[in-house]
Amino acid sequence: MMVQYDFSGRRVLITGAAGGIGWDCARLLAAAGAELVLVDRDEKRLHELLEKLGTDRGHQTVAGDLVESATLQQVITIVEQGPGLDALIPAAGIYRDQPVAEMTWDQWRHTISVNLDAVFTVTQAVLPYLNDHASIVNFDSLAGARGSRTHAHYAATKAAVTAFGRSLALEVGHRGIRVNSVAPGIIRTSMTDRLVDGSGEALLAQTPLGRFGTAEEVASVVLFLCSDASSFINGEVIHINGGLYMQ
Ligand SMILES: NC(=O)c1ccc[n+]([C@@H]2O[C@H](COP(=O)([O-])OP(=O)(O)OC[C@H]3O[C@@H](n4cnc5c(N)ncnc54)[C@H](O)[C@@H]3O)[C@@H](O)[C@H]2O)c1
Repeated sequence: MMVQYDFSGRRVLITGAAGGIGWDCARLLAAAGAELVLVDRDEKRLHELLEKLGTDRGHQTVAGDLVESATLQQVITIVEQGPGLDALIPAAGIYRDQPVAEMTWDQWRHTISVNLDAVFTVTQAVLPYLNDHASIVNFDSLAGARGSRTHAHYAATKAAVTAFGRSLALEVGHRGIRVNSVAPGIIRTSMTDRLVDGSGEALLAQTPLGRFGTAEEVASVVLFLCSDASSFINGEVIHINGGLYMQ
């Protein structure tokens, strides 16, 4: 059952909007009345998403790589024209299989630049345009808490965005702005196809609910954190993993 929120009159920026979880965040927020700024490097899927949401609803898109300053500039141009942002959801991320012993510097840096640097740059860029009482929801991961074999760079960035978010929460709390993280476990999106193919059965056996999560089950928590229903939750991490990891 999906809880109904009212986001009408609210403007939300989502990065990684064309991906599995970002897409469902966009879908649920649009259904709840939000006006969206959607960013992703996958231009084709971004336009598919816009078609689905309705091209006449005031949603805007930026197709580009968030590591490029030109993409960031396009985001700023759109954001500064509007009424201010009520939520920021930096969901873009990459998940590469690269053991530490074989990882090149460029591989390390690539994951850090997308998963961590781009969270910093987009957050810093839109900070002046966040309305008072806005909400930021960062994407941590089970990997950030538990580590992940062959994904040390990924795990490091995920723990880091939560630490970044908590530090930011200390700086922007006086504006009523909250910063939280969600930490999904194994959610069925294209990001986890290889993981599920390789270790799916073992992971299912360790998950009390005996199944993987859906993108919508993460998006619904993101909406909760963006909504007034979570108005006193700040600096928190919400794990969404069916019990695979219990804090
Ligand atoms: N799926 C899971 O099980 C899971 C678990 C824990 C955390 N997460 C996190 O949730 C977030 C969303 O993951 P998902 O499962 O939807 O993955 P996904 O691969 O389906 O979507 C990620 C999206 O980010 C976009 N993207 C990647 N690099 C980009 C860049 N440099 N510039 C612009 N766009 C870029 C991709 O094009 C893609 O559309 C990620 O931050 C991920 O780390 C996912």
